[in-house]
Amino acid sequence: MALLIATPADASAARPGAPGVGDAYFPLAGNGGYDVRHYDLDIRYTPATKAFVGVTSISARAEQALSSFNLDLRGFTVRSITVDGRAAAFTRDGQELTVTPRRDLRRGADFTVVVRYDGTTGQPTDNTDALYGWVSYADGAFVANEPEGASTWYPVNDHQTDKATYDFTITVPDGKTAVANGELVGRRSSRGWTTFKWHARDPMASYLSTASIGDYDLRFSRGPNGLPIIDAVDRDLPDTADDGIARTSSIISYFNDVFGRYPFSSFGAIIDDDEDAGYALETQTRPIYSGAPSESTVAHELAHQWYGNSVSPSLWKDIWLNEGFATYAEWLWEEHNGGTTAAAQFDALYARPDTASLWRNVVADPGATNLFVASVYDKGALTLQALREKIGDRSFFALLKAWYALHRNSDASTGDFIALAEKISRQPLRPFFQTWLYTAGKPVTW
Ligand code: ARG
Ligand code: ZN
Repeated sequence: MALLIATPADASAARPGAPGVGDAYFPLAGNGGYDVRHYDLDIRYTPATKAFVGVTSISARAEQALSSFNLDLRGFTVRSITVDGRAAAFTRDGQELTVTPRRDLRRGADFTVVVRYDGTTGQPTDNTDALYGWVSYADGAFVANEPEGASTWYPVNDHQTDKATYDFTITVPDGKTAVANGELVGRRSSRGWTTFKWHARDPMASYLSTASIGDYDLRFSRGPNGLPIIDAVDRDLPDTADDGIARTSSIISYFNDVFGRYPFSSFGAIIDDDEDAGYALETQTRPIYSGAPSESTVAHELAHQWYGNSVSPSLWKDIWLNEGFATYAEWLWEEHNGGTTAAAQFDALYARPDTASLWRNVVADPGATNLFVASVYDKGALTLQALREKIGDRSFFALLKAWYALHRNSDASTGDFIALAEKISRQPLRPFFQTWLYTAGKPVTW
């Protein structure tokens, strides 16, 4: 048994955890000094009044001696916080919730934080004006957090470099359905309220969590290797809303072959009937769509389960590792089906004039307000096709697999990708990536 002996040096070393993880795009996203292992989210939500009552229990480990630490939380009234069962002091400043436990936390200590909070939810929007965080609608809530919207509904270490497992207990009026990540492990009604329990056993980044509430029918089926598939489809949608997800199992089988075995314990879709139709997010195990998705969008969000969700971008400037890959995966699925080849997709996009939006931004550092621009998606995918032609199919597909195998359940950077591409292809590729990823404009030679 290891004996931890507190020395005076240890005690004096206790200091506040940092208010951010050091991601330049979102300096206050996430926090320093601890690592969350598990979130237990308990939510009661009333769509008619948007009344939200939450209790979040966080199991974490101190990575330094902590005199205080921060969580990210926007809005709400915080009623109480305990650390290891004892009342803790707290202050708030913008999205930063600073918790000061009764006693310092030793480095390496496991601790549990319980936050009780409540309020009325609104309709937050981010700097791209897209759906963001806990979005309240008349019939429920549409919950999509990318990049840092988890803090609009629970206290969180809101950065993908701190993944954790999750339990959700969501209580809604009878007749409403609450859908989260992972598997449904309980459903019970009492006195007009129904409680849905979901368990997500694979490590997950906070931006990929969801707890969407609506008029959903839940459908349970099985995919490749017995993978549980749980779909939630809004009852108000026409039957054709399912067309895009009809081939989910075939797409999983194909990606299993090309990327490596599907990363998580289940899959499925949440298909809503919102006004802002056209929004989709790769929420882990259960992508969410504001309206009926096309098959290529389903392939895109499915590919993110490998690229983005299991292998997450270390910093938000690495977002092309998500979007360039998922866009390229749409092309691969299309090519696999005998449709347009990836090479033909390349030619069509490459033909766009110098002034086209896809050439505007720097792919591997687009700027915080440009995470989802055409350069990230399309030029990102073009980069992968150009790479495939440069290093050959054999190296290229070995690289796709190795990238996932090496970094699964973790995060990685563009630099890591370049290094791996050089290693697998045994070619110097820095000038190539300099041209494609780090220079704005249309590449001429590479
Ligand atoms: N990651 C999502 C997808 O392409 C897109 C999210 C767009 N978010 C936004 N704020 N515009 O699958
Ligand atoms: Zn995407």
